[in-house]
This record gives sequence, C-alpha cells and structure tokens, in this order.
Amino acid sequence: MKATTQPPLLSAVLSLAATSFAFCTETPEAKPFGKTKDGAPVEVFTLVNKQGVKLRAMTYGATVLSLETPDRNGKSADIVLGYKTLGQYEKSSPYFGAIVGRYGNRIAGGKFTLQGKEYKLAENNGAPGLKSSLHGGLRGFDKVVWKAEPLAQDGAQGVRFSYLSKDGEEGYPGNLEVKVTYWLNDQNEWRVDYEMASDKATPVNLTQHSYFNLKGEGRGDILGHELTVPAAKFTPVNAAMIPTGELRSVAGTPLDFNQPKAIGARIQADDEQLRLGGGYDHNFVLKRPLFSGLSGRGTFPAATVHEPETGRVLTILTSEPGIQFYSGNFLDGTLTGKAGARYPKRSGFCLETQHYPDSPNQPSFPSTILKPGKVLKSTTVFQFGVK
Ligand code: GLA
Repeated sequence: MKATTQPPLLSAVLSLAATSFAFCTETPEAKPFGKTKDGAPVEVFTLVNKQGVKLRAMTYGATVLSLETPDRNGKSADIVLGYKTLGQYEKSSPYFGAIVGRYGNRIAGGKFTLQGKEYKLAENNGAPGLKSSLHGGLRGFDKVVWKAEPLAQDGAQGVRFSYLSKDGEEGYPGNLEVKVTYWLNDQNEWRVDYEMASDKATPVNLTQHSYFNLKGEGRGDILGHELTVPAAKFTPVNAAMIPTGELRSVAGTPLDFNQPKAIGARIQADDEQLRLGGGYDHNFVLKRPLFSGLSGRGTFPAATVHEPETGRVLTILTSEPGIQFYSGNFLDGTLTGKAGARYPKRSGFCLETQHYPDSPNQPSFPSTILKPGKVLKSTTVFQFGVK
C-alpha cells in the first residue's frame, strides 16, 4: 500500500528544512576597519553571493572598498579603485567608492535660494571666479561615519547604512535622515536603495561614486571599455563645469553613446565640452519619463559598459533622471591603490546616477527639493555579467 500521507514528524522535519533553506543566506558580519583620526571606530561588512561576487563596504562614507567579480573565464578581479587603509581615505580621496551628498556634483557659486532664503555652502571646487560647491562641501557624506545594520533575505546579503545630517550641516537646511542600503544577490546584482526624509525643505542629490575598471583596479586605463548610454541629450556645462540650463542633443558629438563606443575613441576630439571637462565629465539626460518632482522607485537602463579583454559587462539601471559619466580625468598617477599600483589618468570611470547638477539654481531641471513630511526613495542597480 502506498503511503499517501507523511508521518507528522517527517513532514515537520521537511517543512523546517524548507524554511531554513528559504532563509539560508547568512547575515554579514561586522569587522573592525580601524579608527578615524578623531577616534571613531569604523567597521567593514563583506557581502558575498553564490556566484563568487564579493563586495566589501565600510561605515566611513558608506564606501565600497572592493568588488570582486568573475571574468568570462571565471577568473575574479577587484573592479573598483580604492585604498588599503582608512587613513588613506581620510587623508585624500577623490570620493573612491563613497556615497556623496547631501548634494552630489556641483552647486554654482556655492549658494542657492529656497523659500526666499539664501543658503551659503562651502565653495570647495573650481578656480577663483568659477567656484562651486562639490559633492556636499568640505565634509560631505563621504567623510562621515555612518551607522550600519547587516541584513539578509533569501538569496541576498545586505547592509543598511544610516546617517543623520543635522540642520545647518555644511550649510544645508533641515535635519536630514538618510538610509542607504546595499544588497548583493545571487543574480549578480548590487542594488543601492536610498531613502531620505527631512524636517525642513532641502535640496538632496545622493549618488554612489565608485570608480570602475572592468579589467581590474590598477590594470591600466579604461579607454578600451565600450560604453552605451541611452540618452538623446546631455546638460552642457560652462567653464565652471556648471550646466548652462540647455538640454543639448548628443547627435553628431563625441557624447553620443547611444550605440556602444570605446571611451577612448573620441575623447581627444576637438570638442568644446570635452575641453571644458578635461574629457568626459557630463550629465546625461536619460531616455525615460521625466519626473516633475522627485523620482519614484522603478528603474530604467542608464548605462552599459563592456570590457573586451576580460568580457566583463556592467549594466546600470536607475530611478534617477540623469547619470554623470566621469572618465577619471583628474586621476594623475599620484594615488596608490590597494594592491600597490598607481592610478594614472583615466584608470577608472564613474557612472553616477543622479539628478542634474546645480538643480537648486535651475528652475527648468527636475526638482531636487525634498519637502518635510515626504520620504524620498531612489534606487540604482549595478548588474555584473560577461560576454
Ligand atoms: C564628479 C565630478 C568630477 C570630479 C569627480 C571627483 O564626477 O563631476 O568633476 O569632481 O566627481 O573627482
């Protein structure tokens, strides 16, 4: 006679096994990563997945320290630039791997007016007469120690970083509560979820400032990487690297990446915008519905990068209306990376999902003003593949 029902003990064991299988992803552990010069302890979290991808992130700046992904032969390399020690990050970092904010990219003249009041920010970028506030000011979100909570769900490990930016910090209005969660899942996706709320109206524009080299950090320049950006327009800049307000067509310019093009193919072209940026350092207007206000959660393709030697492919999706493509023009060989190699000019690129630079002074751009009582959510996904 065939058993039609399982004995109660066996079915209990099976259901327990199913439950623990569903939740078998372990919560990442916190490990010490030294102390800041002010004595604050910094921790590092290591997220791993079943396909051999490994992401390490620390509480200083919510910074991604390393990101190992396989190439087309299954060989792993660390594909982001960075340092070995906390002290190096504190001393001088061009925002390697960090979350930048409260306002990523530039605000013209280091000032903006909101609800009739002028706010003054640090002018930490640009030559005299061409000054702006860059990446949140003198001590932006990349230079503070965040709180962290390790997370796990079925098939994904995570860490949630949180930071309270006090009213008046770096000149910005309102106590701003920020949560940035990194998830690494078994589908080789690194997902960045942003959540922000403030008790006063304030501009906000956070981004992830990782420098990628899909050959592996320290392995030469990124000029052979092939980039695709589905954007019909970009925001041209003036001599201060501030958008003029125009949304200009990329057609017929070296900024047209609608079809895959090597980053280096046209970087030396005789083009006013490339001269002003010292290469690519421009915001692209993503082909997607423009939001009149702050963005929602659905993500859209923003960029794809293919590295022909290793076969690595990075695909970026975002809910943001723009993406800054920066070709590492300010790297100059003076910084030494974590494995001991120097980082010459254009040895890494950044693709920073964002609202457009200088939006607080540009009424025609999608608004970056977060009002009290609202929760702003934004998501960017980095997918790692090979071809
Ligand atoms: C952004 C800016 C660049 C540069 C880098 C960091 O990409 O647009 O001009 O400041 O950050 O060096």
